[in-house]
Amino acid sequence: MSPPRIRPADSEAIAEAAHILQQGGLVAMPTETVYGLAADATNGRAVAAIFAAKGRPEFNPLIVHVANVGAARHLVRFDDRAERLAAAFWPGALTLVLRRRADCPVSELASAGLPTLAIRVPAHPVAHALLAACRLPLAAPSANRSGQVSPTEAAHVEESLGEKVDLILDAGPCPVGIESTIVGLTRPEATLLRPGGVEREAIEALIGPLAAPRRQAIEAPGMLASHYAPRLPVRLGACEVAPDEALLGFGRDLPEGAAMTMNLSPGGDLREAAAHLFAYLRALDRPVFRAIAVMPIPETGLGLAINDRLRRAAAGR
Ligand code: TXA
Ligand code: MG
Repeated sequence: MSPPRIRPADSEAIAEAAHILQQGGLVAMPTETVYGLAADATNGRAVAAIFAAKGRPEFNPLIVHVANVGAARHLVRFDDRAERLAAAFWPGALTLVLRRRADCPVSELASAGLPTLAIRVPAHPVAHALLAACRLPLAAPSANRSGQVSPTEAAHVEESLGEKVDLILDAGPCPVGIESTIVGLTRPEATLLRPGGVEREAIEALIGPLAAPRRQAIEAPGMLASHYAPRLPVRLGACEVAPDEALLGFGRDLPEGAAMTMNLSPGGDLREAAAHLFAYLRALDRPVFRAIAVMPIPETGLGLAINDRLRRAAAGR
């Protein structure tokens, strides 16, 4: 009998996952942001298997996860800004894009042939235990098929990738629920490549203003406008709702009359809203409704990342 593909992330399952990774296999690991589809970043064939499993149309560069800042310094060249951000936010939901070191052992495929590498130290205890057990840098995009919203629960991974992943470590819902903030540090001006789980304001307080990417399509190819697409049309800024629409609400005062309603945060808390965002979008994305109407979300703090994902969802595929 083959063992179940989803396993609670106890120490036995983590040891097995580490073994699978060392053999070049694929493991879905929980992180504090979303579930990642992990492979040995130094093994080109294993990295290629990630792209195959996701059905990515092209080789987008991936985020490499390491156990601590020391391990990161072996792969990329740190500057003063990187040191300050790593000290403040690692482990945590911040990804830094830095120049690869000449002797960086990470597969060229993981960074899509770019001279730069996206790197982060995840805070989730299971991701941490897995990195410690396998002693490898792990390339890990979100564990969903290309074009779908990111998985925040083990069951989402199984629905999306099924048998393409060798083992799914289940640690329940991801506490942050939205992907990491990506900051580019390969130019004199620091660049916000993707808003995410660490607030822009907190980063700017440490290293000054973040620039907008010059040409987003080149800098972060995974950031296509249509990246996060539910099947239903998504209508933003909804202050009232039609009877055949599903409502994604926020705050206390919800319009009445929706076919189905889910509230991201009745108390208007942006952290709670981020944690619920992808799971609620999935739950409302049912063909019995005509569209998903989304109430306005404030454009501050984590609201930046939430609105970014919602705009992509609304852009369609
Ligand atoms: O929270 C997260 O970041 C999750 C968890 C699993 O860590 N990962 C994640 O990975 O969201 P993914 O592959 O779905 O998104 C990675 C993003 C893409 O938009 C990609 O283009 C960008 O990072 N990226 C990766 N390497 C880059 C590089 N060298 N330069 C610019 N952008 C890069
Ligand atoms: Mg993704």
